[in-house]
Amino acid sequence: MIRMSNVIVFDHPLIQHKISILRDVQTSSNQFRALLTEITMLMCYESMRDLPLEEVEITTPICKTKTNVLAGTKLAVIPILRAGLGMVNGVLNLVPSARVGHIGMYRDEETLEPHPYYCKLPANIGKRLAIVVDPMLATGGSAIDAINQIKELGGQKIKFMCLIAAPEGIQALEKAHPDVDIYCAHVDERLNEQGYIIPGLGDAGDRIFGTK
Ligand code: PRP
Ligand code: URA
Repeated sequence: MIRMSNVIVFDHPLIQHKISILRDVQTSSNQFRALLTEITMLMCYESMRDLPLEEVEITTPICKTKTNVLAGTKLAVIPILRAGLGMVNGVLNLVPSARVGHIGMYRDEETLEPHPYYCKLPANIGKRLAIVVDPMLATGGSAIDAINQIKELGGQKIKFMCLIAAPEGIQALEKAHPDVDIYCAHVDERLNEQGYIIPGLGDAGDRIFGTK
């Protein structure tokens, strides 16, 4: 794991190996979804390293003992539709009690501006750690707008988790939301003229749902 200010890159060999398979144009939607869930679980595991613990007393079959449990941090996983949906189960597999919010957003193909079309968050979002998930951080427009919406509704503690980030997106997101940690599996080279990440993995939504 490499941390540069508030950007954390997961350089674990297992994650890098699985990302390489995801990038391959030959990988089917079925395989793509399964790998996305596996990678999200690995990333979620590491990104929860700072969750606070509290000591409780329990009784084992042998004796009473003091032991650590999570100190009641409530979680919300918030996918940016559509592609973020592919990461939800990876978080829920590790934190089954997390609530799920949804933010609907699509990028205009010409202007690359995000267009929000839906937002439904769990109640008391301000009391939860919100993990916003989307496999791709390209210009950063979608992530910035989604986090703006969460903050407007009271969100305070927010992390953003993606697979592949473009340097342009990281810079924009850091500038707009310096309080939000950005977790990613790889920082790619740059964006092309159409706003796609190079080398990237193509359109994440289309690859997850087989729409192209
Ligand atoms: C993709 C991706 C992000 C966004 C990233 O979604 O899943 O949400 O683009 O681009 P940005 O950083 O430049 O905003 P897309 O708009 O293609 O919608 P979809 O998931 O419905 O296909
Ligand atoms: N959205 C995607 O799905 N892929 C990209 O490369 C850029 C934005």
